[in-house]
Amino acid sequence: MIEITVTEDAEEAARTCAERLAEAIDEARADRGAAHVALAGGRTPGRTYELLGEHVDDWRAVHLWFGDERCVPLDDPDSNHRLVTATLLAALAARGMDPPLVHAVAGAAGEPAAAAADYERALRQEVPAGPSGVPALDVALLGLGEDGHTASLFPDDPALDERERLCVPVHGTKPPFDRVSLTLPVLRAARRAVLLTAGAGKAWAVGAMLSGPSNRVPASLLADGDGTVELIADRTAAPA
Ligand code: 6PG
Repeated sequence: MIEITVTEDAEEAARTCAERLAEAIDEARADRGAAHVALAGGRTPGRTYELLGEHVDDWRAVHLWFGDERCVPLDDPDSNHRLVTATLLAALAARGMDPPLVHAVAGAAGEPAAAAADYERALRQEVPAGPSGVPALDVALLGLGEDGHTASLFPDDPALDERERLCVPVHGTKPPFDRVSLTLPVLRAARRAVLLTAGAGKAWAVGAMLSGPSNRVPASLLADGDGTVELIADRTAAPA
């Protein structure tokens, strides 16, 4: 089941998303002593990351992971790691706050397969397993592509059928094409999955992801996992 939160505009969606991430972090640290958060790339979540610095007072025992990463250097303008560095980490530095522990997808630019395997090892080592025996992220923030992709799981990609590996190299349809992505087993094992989207260009993908599970619409495959799935969308992306 996917819970939908509709906001007036993209700014309110960003703020609502920051509040949700902060809630998940506080809950995880209170219940388990640490919080494991996977972040998304793309254009949409940057504002959420800027705001998130205002919603969490200290970042001790918070581990930041990436739902996907492009196969570019970590300081490349297309890198999701760079996005988080330039927004969330910069906001924390400006406030003199100690940063969270950031698990970058190291080496994706050179050796995607090795980088994916290393990232999976780190996930299995650091993130406690949930009921399905798979590392259970406390929250996975995900974006939604116009074609219904999420993370770097693209329509009809064989990676959608991966049930053992938690992180795989992919050749996607959105540039930069070569990426590393978490797979459905770990995304569906997350205690909370939060999809953030905005803009009329995403309206088709929102409608498609709510129309039942299909490999043609990867975001539709997130529901019915171990945790909850919430879609935060502004009213131009939300279903009429
Ligand atoms: C990426 C993202 C990807 C993104 C969607 C939406 O690395 O590209 O993880 O899944 O969230 O493509 O991107 P926009 O927010 O730019 O529309």
